[in-house]
Amino acid sequence: MRSAILAASQNRWMREQASHYWFVRRTAGRFMPGETLKDALAAAAQLKLHGIGTLFTHLGENIVDAGVAEAGTRHYLDALDQIRARGLDTELSIKLTQLGVDLSLAQCYAKLVRILERAGGASTVWIDMESSRHTDITLELYRRARKTHSNVGVCLQAYLHRTARDLAALMPLAPAIRLVKGAYKEPPGIVFRRKKDVDENFFSLVKTLLGEPARRAGVRAAIATNDRELIRRSTEFAASAHVQPDQFEFQMLYGIQHPELVRLVRDGYRARVLIAYGSYWFPWFMRRLAERPANVLFMLRHLFAS
Ligand code: FDA
Repeated sequence: MRSAILAASQNRWMREQASHYWFVRRTAGRFMPGETLKDALAAAAQLKLHGIGTLFTHLGENIVDAGVAEAGTRHYLDALDQIRARGLDTELSIKLTQLGVDLSLAQCYAKLVRILERAGGASTVWIDMESSRHTDITLELYRRARKTHSNVGVCLQAYLHRTARDLAALMPLAPAIRLVKGAYKEPPGIVFRRKKDVDENFFSLVKTLLGEPARRAGVRAAIATNDRELIRRSTEFAASAHVQPDQFEFQMLYGIQHPELVRLVRDGYRARVLIAYGSYWFPWFMRRLAERPANVLFMLRHLFAS
């Protein structure tokens, strides 16, 4: 089922159809506060009341039109101004394919630098990790940006066999790393196939991120998962390694595990929620369905309850 949903996420016809169906929109609404920046800002203000920080991602990917890539960049520059004006604890999470990396590397990098400079030193801009077709280029642009900007982070995916090596290679840069399980359809040879193996690799990478050498190297660690068991194992490991709760952070997706987030903050951990918004929500939404087949049932229940 996961493979079929992920394959459908790239289907243009399905994307165009999906937004016409109210039960699909309603299910997507479970994971998004709305389609506009205003919706995201309002949700961030609410979460701030609970001491929960946020990350904004304006949905869009695989852009092949320079004008659209420029408009996406300007959107993020405006979002940064509005975040600052409201005093929100909100950072950005961006995709390089949204900034047109497939069109021009140089122009994509220039756009990334504009965003980093508008964000300023205190606000990290996180670069998402997309499918394995873009892993090398994402890491290359991250390395370039990190040499001149302290406020840039990158996502690494625990389902890839290569990630332990990538993390070791990034360590000398004092990187900000967001660790996730990985959300794309990948060829079998390069990923752990079984959920159990992905989870074990995730935990092994958590231990590296929170270990003494990473702390000495100045790594900023963000453990991005909704998986309560991995969160429990991570907090236990942190305690055993004498890592204080405020020395790393948890990141989760909007609409999932809210009580767990509140509990983490109450226990002194730092937590951030990724808020996705925008009209181009179909591929992102399909990845959320693929993560949890129960979401497909949830959507069908809406349909049959009508
Ligand atoms: P897992 O999928 O095992 O879920 C654990 C539990 O969480 C489930 O049992 C369920 O209770 C709950 N849950 C998880 N997903 C749910 C859903 N969709 N609906 C309802 N409940 C759900 N991926 C990527 O490849 N590149 C990236 O840049 C990012 N960026 C990113 C940022 C942040 C902040 C997060 C939290 C995640 C990402 N991801 C990502 C997505 C990530 O790779 C992964 O697909 C999801 O986080 C789901 O995996 P979990 O770690 O939550 O575990």
